[in-house]
Amino acid sequence: MPVEVVAGVQWGDEGKGKIVDILSQNADVVARYQGGANAGHTIVIGDKKYVLHLIPSGILNAKTICIIGNGVVIEPRALMDEIKMLENEGIDITGRLFISQRAHLIMPYHKLLDEARETSSKEATIGTTGRGIGPAYIDKVNRCGIRIVDLLNRDALKKKLRSNIQQKNEILSKIYKKNLMNEDEIIDEYLEFDKQIDPYITDTSLYLNEAISQNKHVVCEGAQGTMLDLDFGTFPYVTSSNPISGGACTGLGIGPTRIDKVTGVIKAYTTRVGEGPFPTEFDAKTAEHVRELGDEFGATTGRPRRCGWFDAVLARYSAQINGIDSWALTKLDILDTLDEIKVCVGYRWDGREHKSFPASLEQVETAEPVYTTLPGWKADTTGVRRMQDLPENALAYIRSLEKMTETPVSIVSVGFRREQTIMV
Ligand code: GDP
Ligand code: IMO
Ligand code: MG
Repeated sequence: MPVEVVAGVQWGDEGKGKIVDILSQNADVVARYQGGANAGHTIVIGDKKYVLHLIPSGILNAKTICIIGNGVVIEPRALMDEIKMLENEGIDITGRLFISQRAHLIMPYHKLLDEARETSSKEATIGTTGRGIGPAYIDKVNRCGIRIVDLLNRDALKKKLRSNIQQKNEILSKIYKKNLMNEDEIIDEYLEFDKQIDPYITDTSLYLNEAISQNKHVVCEGAQGTMLDLDFGTFPYVTSSNPISGGACTGLGIGPTRIDKVTGVIKAYTTRVGEGPFPTEFDAKTAEHVRELGDEFGATTGRPRRCGWFDAVLARYSAQINGIDSWALTKLDILDTLDEIKVCVGYRWDGREHKSFPASLEQVETAEPVYTTLPGWKADTTGVRRMQDLPENALAYIRSLEKMTETPVSIVSVGFRREQTIMV
């Protein structure tokens, strides 16, 4: 049974939730490997829409075990809200959700620092989700973060919390001129959280490695996307973790030799939320049109998503960094009504055409996309369930993308519902 990684390859919101939900129908375990409640993964079943931020997108399949790995940063309140939401919907998660002892916690001060940094006139605005993600990962790297395992030792937890809050209060008041936080309130809240989260805590790396040894089918779920990766994205306009497939190893505690397959989730066009360069971004009018067609509004923050053409330079780069075996191509149906569709096949800068994705922010910002234009298919694809039933030009579009990215398509999604999926 395979261990497969499902990763976003653009700027997030590619439709990972839908694809992971479908793949997890045959999986024993689904494990989230990085990010936090900055993610918003949407799954539609019947007329019910679920948006998951921390809990893996396998949770709606009654038999699937779900794991939140050590690479995830967990905000207790967001997690408890999500558990409650699922319970209210009648979804039984008893014995199906496990949380890594080694995962770091997002504290109220992380959110305050995120907000303070975003609104400071002295620092660049990234357009974060405001969930405290960056500051939480900073504390992890700085070796002062508080982990789930710390909740099990009340005295040590109090000591660590007190020291962290005192230090953050200095930063908040002296650098950002913000009010001080109340130490005792935060300590009480987290001691209370300890009781609620206790039943879910386990050594998830051990659990996963044993599951893999027992030949179980494991799906590793990434959040965000390759272009938001801390190392390979459009730095500094990125998130603070590694959404790429390699992040599954460090974020779950499984070795690279255990991974059999990597599926890249890719939208048939491109979107981005937040600041940062976006070479194939539409003009305002086309952006508004496609945003309406694709309902492109953030699942976490509700912000309108920026929209643009498919970027084959970016996709080829992502395929390489992630070691993509095949694409799950989503939202093909959103292009159904367009007369023609452009695809970026190269970037022009310094008077030359380049085929590789540049590391320099300035080059990405000034890169002029070189487009090829393909005819639209002007037909409804939402009811199509087999490749051979797709309109000729839609199939030609898919074949062109495969050729340009040197990667085959294994899944085509033609609507947000589970059944609106073509397995190639
Ligand atoms: P994720 O963060 O990658 O899981 O993606 P989001 O859930 O943030 O955004 C994807 C949006 O597109 C959600 O509203 C999905 O329900 C929707 N969606 C996914 N696949 C398709 C598709 O093939 N067609 C259409 N029309 N919508 C889709
Ligand atoms: P899913 O998993 C799209 C973006 C933010 C911002 C940057 C940094 O649903 O695809 P952060 O709060 O992480 O420090 O913000 O990353 N961002 C996302 N964009 N989808 C996401 O998640 C995102 N998570 C973060 O908009 O530009
Ligand atoms: Mg999303």
